[in-house]
Amino acid sequence: MNKIVYFDNAATSYPKPEEVYRAVDHFQREIGASPGRSAHRLAVAAGRVVLDARERLARLFGVGNSSRVVLTPNCTEALNLAIKGSLRAGDHVVCSSVEHNSVMRPLRRLAADGVVELTVVPCSPEGRLSPAVVQKQLRPNTRLVVVTQASNVLGTIQPVAEIGKITRKRGILLLVDAAQSAGCIPIDLPASGIDLLAFSGHKGLLGPSGTGGLVIGEDVDLLSLKEGGTGSRSQHEIQPLHLPDRYESGTLNGPGIAGLSAALAWLEAQGVAALMRRLRELTAALLGELAAVPGVTVYGPRDPKKQTAVVSFTMAGKDVAAVAATLDQRFGILTRAGLHCAPSAHKTIGTLRRTGGTVRASLGPFNTTEQVRYFGACLRQLSGK
Ligand SMILES: Cc1ncc(COP(=O)(O)O)c(C=O)c1O
Repeated sequence: MNKIVYFDNAATSYPKPEEVYRAVDHFQREIGASPGRSAHRLAVAAGRVVLDARERLARLFGVGNSSRVVLTPNCTEALNLAIKGSLRAGDHVVCSSVEHNSVMRPLRRLAADGVVELTVVPCSPEGRLSPAVVQKQLRPNTRLVVVTQASNVLGTIQPVAEIGKITRKRGILLLVDAAQSAGCIPIDLPASGIDLLAFSGHKGLLGPSGTGGLVIGEDVDLLSLKEGGTGSRSQHEIQPLHLPDRYESGTLNGPGIAGLSAALAWLEAQGVAALMRRLRELTAALLGELAAVPGVTVYGPRDPKKQTAVVSFTMAGKDVAAVAATLDQRFGILTRAGLHCAPSAHKTIGTLRRTGGTVRASLGPFNTTEQVRYFGACLRQLSGK
């Protein structure tokens, strides 16, 4: 058993495949140049690395045109670009009650400024969003529906394709927050009616921190959030309109993108569907362990087929932060306690004020059944029963 048991993969995945560390190091030492800026051999090599990553991402999400994949420093920036780039004064927007603050805060800000009207659709106690309820909330001026594909608190997987059918029929944009689903479950943009897909590169995709992106559907036109140098059409003082340059001003994170590309190659070799099956087995084992601990309440679907490998729980009579701290200090198990930047999700399941959140265990492809069993044994010891 390793000394550290890392169960915080929903925040960022760790460890990464060995190839990721090697690709970052190789980029830093052997390439180093800025992609898309100069014409010398190292700049060309850096540009090739970025293009490879973009093409792998397009393949992963079933997108034909890789220039529609815009690289960002994280999922938060991608969500802000999608939300602020698409909404105009007088628009109505719908989201679920389990959204992360990366969705909730930009929407609340636009609503508070009087730019848009916002409807937050309540999810079930397991965190599920009903497509029929979403449909009932649509108005003639609804421009955008935002849904997190997998909750970062409960793991609940939303019926995105069903919602996509509804939004497509009404000509409404569907933005999916894939921070917790990309790399964990197969995603096919066109088949699911998704217009905009925001993702983190550093979670389930197993890339380095500082990576993420937004896939922009063929018919979708967004305003840019930032303008600046792109290395293209430099004679113009006006931002170029072609993608991805329109949304990628400023020097890209070359080493991070090199690492992300290596992670994507690793994911392709393993197959996301195979990894999902492995994570389901681990999730089943984790749910089994938690069920055997006296005083533990588990939130969410409690079904590995209906959730990702993210499980939230509380222990009767114990403070969530104290549980996480003890797991770390006494047992070397790293979890996260609190609201996980999603207070509305905790309101939905009744853990906002009552318990101050939950303890969240989130698994990745490098966790083992042995670690999950050890976690269960430590919790049983903690419960004192
Ligand atoms: C559901 C969800 N959306 C968005 C984000 C933001 O991702 P990033 O840290 O890459 O900006 C997170 C991160 O935890 C998340 O879990």
